[in-house]
Amino acid sequence: MRDIIAEVEQRREQARLGGGQKRIDAQHAKGKLTARERLDVLLDEGSFEEYDMYKTHRCTDFGMAETTVPGDGVITGWGTINGRPVYVFSQDFTVFGGSLSETHAEKICKVMDLAVQNGVPLIGLNDSGGARIQEGVASLGGYAEVFWRNVQASGVIPQISVIMGPCAGGAVYSPAMTDFIFMVKDTSYMFVTGPDVVKTVTNEIVTAEELGGASTHTKKSSVADGAYDNDVEALIEIRRMFDFLPLSSREQPPVIPTADAPDRIENALDTLIPDNPNKPYDMREVIARVGDEGDFFEIQGDHARNILCGFIRLNGSTVGVVANQPMVLAGCLDIDSSKKAARFVRFCDAFNIPILTLVDVPGFLPGVSQEYGGIIKHGAKLLFAYAEATVPKVTVITRKAYGGAYDVMSSKHIRADVNYAWPTAQIAVMGAKGATEILYRSELGDPDKIAKRTADYEDRFANPFVAAQRGFIDEVIMPHSTRRRVVRAFEMLKTKKATHPLRKHNNIPL
Ligand code: HXC
Repeated sequence: MRDIIAEVEQRREQARLGGGQKRIDAQHAKGKLTARERLDVLLDEGSFEEYDMYKTHRCTDFGMAETTVPGDGVITGWGTINGRPVYVFSQDFTVFGGSLSETHAEKICKVMDLAVQNGVPLIGLNDSGGARIQEGVASLGGYAEVFWRNVQASGVIPQISVIMGPCAGGAVYSPAMTDFIFMVKDTSYMFVTGPDVVKTVTNEIVTAEELGGASTHTKKSSVADGAYDNDVEALIEIRRMFDFLPLSSREQPPVIPTADAPDRIENALDTLIPDNPNKPYDMREVIARVGDEGDFFEIQGDHARNILCGFIRLNGSTVGVVANQPMVLAGCLDIDSSKKAARFVRFCDAFNIPILTLVDVPGFLPGVSQEYGGIIKHGAKLLFAYAEATVPKVTVITRKAYGGAYDVMSSKHIRADVNYAWPTAQIAVMGAKGATEILYRSELGDPDKIAKRTADYEDRFANPFVAAQRGFIDEVIMPHSTRRRVVRAFEMLKTKKATHPLRKHNNIPL
């Protein structure tokens, strides 16, 4: 028996070495952790249960028969994060560059199936050269099996991807179908084809970092939802995010007890809005003062900064926040911000996360490039997402709510449950100056008359009361009591039930 146990130990040791010490050293030299070290940081100590440690590839072409490595370049199993279960896979770049073989794919598919069956999230740590070139179509088929499962799992369990190395080809498409993608700065890349292929095909000369580094994907392409300085920071932040999420669409998000009083008064909010309506202020301030302990896990913080999206807690319960940011583009809705917020709203709705919307929006961004880029279609995404969301929705208008953007930003009309406005709210078709210039075009030559007309329009609409008289605003609340009011609103809405008409699926404008 002792010999058998020793043999198991020896096999385990061999599997744990992956592609060997030399390649592990090379991984460390690049500032990266190994696949196993990453799981040690991500999961609670001692919680990891590994599957398929001895599984090897079946390829015999290109001399592969002599090169089997136990585990075949991916470590799979489950563990816990702060006591809650999660299925994981972690690709091992030291084994064939983390490339995906047929068996490597089978290992990933096994944990995906278990995750869906058991209603437990899946986190993938990606570090892969894509399809295992030696395996040809077997590898492509393996990828497609993973992709298919990503789609089946979408909206059923949260799926999170962390990109921790150079991910090329198929290695980027599975993450692209998960709910969130996070990257590590300077050591991770995502591209369909690398710089060499780009040069051959399009003659463009570009570095890997410019083509698919963290900065590119968090700022320009919006493929990634966030980036961190190194592996450890990334994994610790994923643990933080995980605590906001439910295990599946069948469950509610966890409640994390807080010492922060639900009725905390924030007098600073009474003086946050500047006298001049054209002066910006930082909407983050509102988020930080309303949420528990100022904790805000932001999504896509570097992209479309005119809208803020992320998770907070209110009296311990997770709430998704969508907020116009007057500091950037005056908080206008444009193509990028509409797409960013629409996807976030849909995630929240799929996973029973109530939505708090903070509104200060002067309208949709006008312009040729916006129209040519399809602002009509992309703006409609956000309208659609809010209108279809059945989770509890509470809206607070802090200042401007103009035009179509008023309707879009979780207005009563598209079935927000509770709509509050601060006394500083202005709800109108457009700003007073623009409105007067259209209504009184013939008087434009007379500045005094126009000034009076503008003042009249402001008196009529630069307040929340016209909307409140119609019941479009449920109550005009004091800014200092915003936390108390929204906490109570969400408490009351905990038992909300709303359903959709029967259909196969809707047809959101894509
Ligand atoms: C087999 C691979 C591999 C792959 C890397 N390796 N990619 N083996 N299949 N796809 C191996 C290398 O041979 C090497 O083995 C080890 O992994 C490390 O790779 P290096 O090139 O030395 O590392 P580095 O310089 O860091 O470059 C990493 C890399 C590069 C950028 C990922 O390896 C690369 O460009 N690989 C190919 C990427 C690619 O084109 N993949 C196929 C995409 S098509 P040794 O033994 O020397 O350590 C695809 C189709 C699916 O994925 C599409 C579905 C939609």
